[in-house]
Amino acid sequence: MNIHIRTMNMADLSAVHALQCRAHPDHYHEPVEALASRLVLGPDFCLVAVESAGVSPQGLPNGGVSASLSAYFLAHPWAGDPPPLHEALPGRLSEPAHYLFLHDMAVCPRRQGLALGSQLHDALLARAARHGFAELRLVAVGTARSYWQKLGFGECDGVGLHSSYGDAVLMRKLLVPQVLAGYSVSAA
Ligand SMILES: CC(C)(COP(=O)(O)OP(=O)(O)OC[C@H]1O[C@@H](n2cnc3c(N)ncnc32)[C@H](O)[C@@H]1OP(=O)(O)O)[C@@H](O)C(=O)NCCC(=O)NCCS
Repeated sequence: MNIHIRTMNMADLSAVHALQCRAHPDHYHEPVEALASRLVLGPDFCLVAVESAGVSPQGLPNGGVSASLSAYFLAHPWAGDPPPLHEALPGRLSEPAHYLFLHDMAVCPRRQGLALGSQLHDALLARAARHGFAELRLVAVGTARSYWQKLGFGECDGVGLHSSYGDAVLMRKLLVPQVLAGYSVSAA
């Protein structure tokens, strides 16, 4: 089995949505439109891990087909408090991004425990650093807090989260900023 990580595209979204519904409890299932808006806002930061199986049934190279989606990561630039779940985001930010927001990651059950999650995290970290982001943030729900702690995220105190997250905690990780490229990033 050969799994590779590449940038997500719109054609992946129905498989991404199906995996979200499989991996998360009902409360966290989002409309495809909400996922699509994250991809529009962060096209360089939304990733998929796909199993390459040679050629698709249509004879096209498998790189554009997501029938074999193993995992995904949705992330986008953001400023202010984390956006509510389930809602579509505006196509562009009205102010400079302060940080990269990690919206959601899921690995399909049969591929969990193979470090795909940490590989996606590393790929995203490299992209975030390339674009000059100094900080990553996410909202950890359920038992995920300990998972993100292992990946170097710490809890932030005193920040109100939208009720759509339920029982959750805001977490962040600081990066060393490198080259600013393509995004306007300001210090928080
Ligand atoms: C959490 C998740 C993304 C991890 O992906 P993965 O590729 O299986 O994880 P890795 O192989 O990189 O890491 C495995 C480690 O994470 C731990 N882990 C997996 N899921 C966890 C969870 N929900 N909470 C806490 N720890 C978890 C495993 O116990 C394992 O620990 P170990 O290294 O000490 O043995 C995946 O299990 C998943 O999709 N879960 C359902 C959706 C979810 O909870 N997403 C994260 C919140 S957005």
